[in-house]
Amino acid sequence: MGRFTFFLLTFVGLAVVYSLRTYQTIEVKNERFDFEKAKKAHADKVKEIEELKKMQAALYAPKVEKVEVEATGPLVELTTPQLQRGHDLYAKCVVCHGKSGEGKKSQNAPAIGGQHDWYIVTQLQAMKDGVRVNKVMDPYLKKLENQEFADLAAYISKLPKIWAK
Ligand code: HEC
Repeated sequence: MGRFTFFLLTFVGLAVVYSLRTYQTIEVKNERFDFEKAKKAHADKVKEIEELKKMQAALYAPKVEKVEVEATGPLVELTTPQLQRGHDLYAKCVVCHGKSGEGKKSQNAPAIGGQHDWYIVTQLQAMKDGVRVNKVMDPYLKKLENQEFADLAAYISKLPKIWAK
């Protein structure tokens, strides 16, 4: 046996010992393969991964600051004296019909923003005359004149058409 062979065999021997050291034994279970169990384990893993993905997405998502824009000025540009008067009169109606005339379910008050001005006038007139019975609005309408109905209608008809859900 030459020196070279001796060296080679030693090297191979060491390599075998090293690979055996790192060799991991696989546990042998004498258990029947349970498909349902494996399926469930897989589903759980998938769910876990989904959750992790969501967490990761939330972590890297650009932060969107929710800015609540509070309307400060009037919703309609008060370019004429009539619109100004209508806006001021409408303050009394906000409780039920909402700032934008979007209506309020809790008050049974319908959306009136963006409604035709002529329709608003005829309805207010009909309510005041008792032709259309509206007990809740009665006290408000009694004090109003025809001119004020027209002013209100001019303003309300210019409000955005929004319906409160
Ligand atoms: C106390 C709550 C309340 C207040 C305040 C109020 N309303 Fe109403 N309004 C109602 C309710 C409730 C109705 C629906 C009545 C019905 O079913 O006929 C209504 C209906 C209306 C309608 C008819 C809508 C339609 O589609 O036929 C108009 C127009 C209206 N209101 C305008 C006004 C104006 C203008 C004011 C302010 C002067 C006002 N309301 C104040 C409760 C209110």
